[in-house]
Amino acid sequence: MRFVNSVRRTRDAVALSAIILILLCGSQHAAASVHFDKETNVFRLDGGDITYVIGLNRQGEVQTLYWGERLPENQQFPAAQAISGLSSFEMPVNTTPQEYTGWGGALYVEPDLKVTFPDGNRDLVLKYVSHTTGEDRIDILLKDISRDVYVTLQYQIDQQTGILRRSADIENRTKQPFTIEQVASGTWNLPRNTDYRLHYVTGRWAGEWSLQSQPIHGGKTVLESRRGTTGAQNNPWFMIDQAASDDQDQGRVWFGALGWSGSWAITVEQNALQDVRITGGPNSFDFAYLLKSGDHFQTPQFYGGFSDKGLGGTSRLLHRYETDRILPNSPSRKLRPVLYNSWEATTFNVDESGQMALAEKAASLGVERFVMDDGWFGQRKTDHAGLGDWYVNPQKFPHGLKPLIDKVHALHMDFGLWVEPEMVNPDSDLYRKHSDWVLNFAGRPRTEGRNQLILNLARPDVHDYVLQWLDKLLTDNDISFIKWDYNRNWSEPGWPAVPVEQQKNIYIDFTRNVYDILAQLRKRHPNVEFESCSGGGGRVDLGIMALTDEVWPSDNTDAYDRLVIQDGFTYAYTPGVMMAWVTDSPTWVNQRTLSLEYRFLSSMQGSLGIGANLNKWSPEDIALAKKMVADYKSIRETVQRGSLYRLRSPREGEQSITESVSRDGQQAVVFAFLHSSTENYPFPRVYMRGLDENATYALRPLAGKVASNTPTAATGAYWMHRGVDLELRGDFQAMGVILQRK
Ligand code: DGJ
Repeated sequence: MRFVNSVRRTRDAVALSAIILILLCGSQHAAASVHFDKETNVFRLDGGDITYVIGLNRQGEVQTLYWGERLPENQQFPAAQAISGLSSFEMPVNTTPQEYTGWGGALYVEPDLKVTFPDGNRDLVLKYVSHTTGEDRIDILLKDISRDVYVTLQYQIDQQTGILRRSADIENRTKQPFTIEQVASGTWNLPRNTDYRLHYVTGRWAGEWSLQSQPIHGGKTVLESRRGTTGAQNNPWFMIDQAASDDQDQGRVWFGALGWSGSWAITVEQNALQDVRITGGPNSFDFAYLLKSGDHFQTPQFYGGFSDKGLGGTSRLLHRYETDRILPNSPSRKLRPVLYNSWEATTFNVDESGQMALAEKAASLGVERFVMDDGWFGQRKTDHAGLGDWYVNPQKFPHGLKPLIDKVHALHMDFGLWVEPEMVNPDSDLYRKHSDWVLNFAGRPRTEGRNQLILNLARPDVHDYVLQWLDKLLTDNDISFIKWDYNRNWSEPGWPAVPVEQQKNIYIDFTRNVYDILAQLRKRHPNVEFESCSGGGGRVDLGIMALTDEVWPSDNTDAYDRLVIQDGFTYAYTPGVMMAWVTDSPTWVNQRTLSLEYRFLSSMQGSLGIGANLNKWSPEDIALAKKMVADYKSIRETVQRGSLYRLRSPREGEQSITESVSRDGQQAVVFAFLHSSTENYPFPRVYMRGLDENATYALRPLAGKVASNTPTAATGAYWMHRGVDLELRGDFQAMGVILQRK
């Protein structure tokens, strides 16, 4: 076999580094390890509690052999063997669990890569060439059987969580350009089982993050966005468990998440042998990418992991990975400050005196960051005009932003500002000057959403313009935070300025340029933090998360609706990035009236913000808010960085309960909500999780009352097995409890 020689070349180095690693680390879980067995051509990656095994079969295909619980170090794996097809209708390429397939030969399952060459040939069959290994990574080089198309499969395993990060680099070493028509980061193959359930989220504006669960049957389920951006309708994340347990913290779960903020697709497919495979990457709908001779195409990262601790344990693993590996400045990133945002209070009617008055009130509550939302620029009086003209509106701010920023600083808060850089209103100076800068097909109508069009960020001049004005804004003003909004999805995704065969590159180049602008701004202004917002939670994924510090999950700020939204959100993303504002009651969303305490407790499950019109708050409201803000500061480390347990889901029944346990195990916080009392039943007893059985914890209500016979201190075992009774009765009631380790 061709690959054996190159395999041998690296084997000594691999074996040596494995020995050195074991000697250095001492303990099995202390380090990730990567091992290659030259006899069997089997690669093994270990990290956290996970082992991932792949092998090279005789056909030179890279085959998944195992993904699950960490196995003993001395466990050998037999060599990979292609799995024979079922009949003449299912050739082995369709039944062999390959890590990466080119569309060619008799492939019918979802391919990872499909290309068209200039001569019309569309056959691509990828075979192993060589590999390299590092401490925690493997690169496997594949090549087409006859043409110089090279694909490097890149794997990196995280030592702490065992989460794998995968992507593929496609290189055109032929003499001519070719067109990529479909490209994925890779395929995950699950162990053979027929009782899998798929969990994913669906949504829409003001109704994001609805968790869906369904059995996996034969055929395909496609989660996707064709919108040019991540979208709220699906999110590029999934979990798959076995239907064995309904306990949140039990059962085997596999999960994946794409780091891509453009159109994307994740295809979950059960093949003819009932094996489940999941392929993910940029969406292939209307897609093409012209790859010139000598160029590389790097796919987005596709993250995948496994936990035997149920959906709850799996999301805790993901939260930790996001906090420690993905987010900017991780693992030592700052906790989220308590923020005030002007949007719901003033909408577009911002001005110097009005914002200063709100800032004074916000500061008196203990708020740490004051954010002025939409309305401060151009001729922005409504959503009909101004986007694109990023000068300070002289009527609203006759002396520029400086007096307001100085005032905010004098009140010991930092200052944040709203922008929407990718958009333009037709009623703007920018559009009057550069109407060719938007996505469009020549001579066709341009569909407006919220009276705005989308600037084609794929264009180098547009990229440069946006980077330049944002850079200047941050250079000229002492701004600590940018809320980056994006209030519509694509239409007419044309790019008439480039040759026809390159026009569809827009799907990739646009998103790459958004990332580039953010990366450059972060580099030039390292103290500025960013929030990803898209009319709510329309752009939340691990790609944008690597460049932003927090996200806005939804424009729906009804504190009861938020329980469900936040529940769905935290399956995939950490509460440490989940902004949650306390807003006015009745809410604009449902006209529902909720107590201020309830609204605070709901928001305190994430990163607390206040978005209400403070001018309307009574002295009693202000006093309560001060107390809640102070309490939040004493628990935010636990909420934002700790382990989240879902004790009762708001999607089922009349109660909702979450618990967060701090990383150091010193504190636990419970939030409990009663939607409606019925038939005089008591609130169910709360059995905590994740505590140290033998440690003693003192209990303090954060709000509300516990049953009178509740001890003021007890062991973790008591709180977990005997539990605590909460005095909750009525409709839309809420309370919180803090356990502090003694
Ligand atoms: C949509 C955002 O989600 C809101 O929070 C607010 O910033 C508005 N846009 C402003 O136009």
